Amino acid sequence: MLYEGTDLLMELISKSKYIVALTGAGVSTSAGIPDFRGPQGIYQQPGFPGAMIFDINQFRQDPAIFYKHIGQLLSMNKDIQPTKGHRFLKKLEELGKLKTVVTQNIDGLHKMAGNSYVIEIHGNFESFYTLDMKFHVETDDVILDCVRKGNVPRACDFGGETDEPLKPNVVFFGEAVQGLEKALTEVQKADLIICMGTSLRVYPVAQLPSYRNDNAKLVIINLEPTPYDNEANLVIHADIDETVETLKMV
Ligand code: OAD
Repeated sequence: MLYEGTDLLMELISKSKYIVALTGAGVSTSAGIPDFRGPQGIYQQPGFPGAMIFDINQFRQDPAIFYKHIGQLLSMNKDIQPTKGHRFLKKLEELGKLKTVVTQNIDGLHKMAGNSYVIEIHGNFESFYTLDMKFHVETDDVILDCVRKGNVPRACDFGGETDEPLKPNVVFFGEAVQGLEKALTEVQKADLIICMGTSLRVYPVAQLPSYRNDNAKLVIINLEPTPYDNEANLVIHADIDETVETLKMV
């Protein structure tokens, strides 16, 4: 049976009082945003420079590489909407079960779905900064339009005095992640951790499930195996939307 395990998932949810979700790119693929390491992931695409687009030293040398490719990864297309996976987590919050979403995604879709407690550990596109942090702008349609076109936004085009490139509030490799301490505390409080759509290969998020308390249950919903599969209480290797549809909660 394709969705073997959804009965157990339902049982684990009904017995839990403090769910923390850890999400990654796989929760947004059905919205039209590709993941990184899946079979159709952007790191597999010929000509894509790979994880170096998120390398802070690379950005310092040439921000154009980042801006040439980032359009593919954003909900900058105004039509992009939260998926059933996002809506499932919103529903769990409404039921008083889910307390926090810790996401690696920078697409803003958990907030758009209405979840109140979202830790965006790799940041977001809500504002842009110069690298010296002396100038910043809140994101609006003008800057998004510039980024959508693949252009490098510069401070002087948005009211700044220099022509320094602007970097979104997204965490690059070589920078500190955001909200890690809070995420760790939430993981330690959880009685159920649901990892959805993440390869669990990028640190420090990949380490978070190992900080769960002894009584906490661990569920993985991901198309491909993860390093935590052998210690999880339930592993569902299937599409997230189809899995949550089976639960009839969205
Ligand atoms: P990955 O691309 O590493 O993993 C996404 C996982 O989701 C893969 O294992 C897919 O098999 C799975 N997946 C894709 N679509 C799915 C679906 N519809 N249903 C179920 N599973 C699905 O993405 P992340 O783990 O999020 O860093 O990657 C972590 C970080 O690596 C990202 O935040 C990004 C990247 O470098 C930064 O942006 C700084």
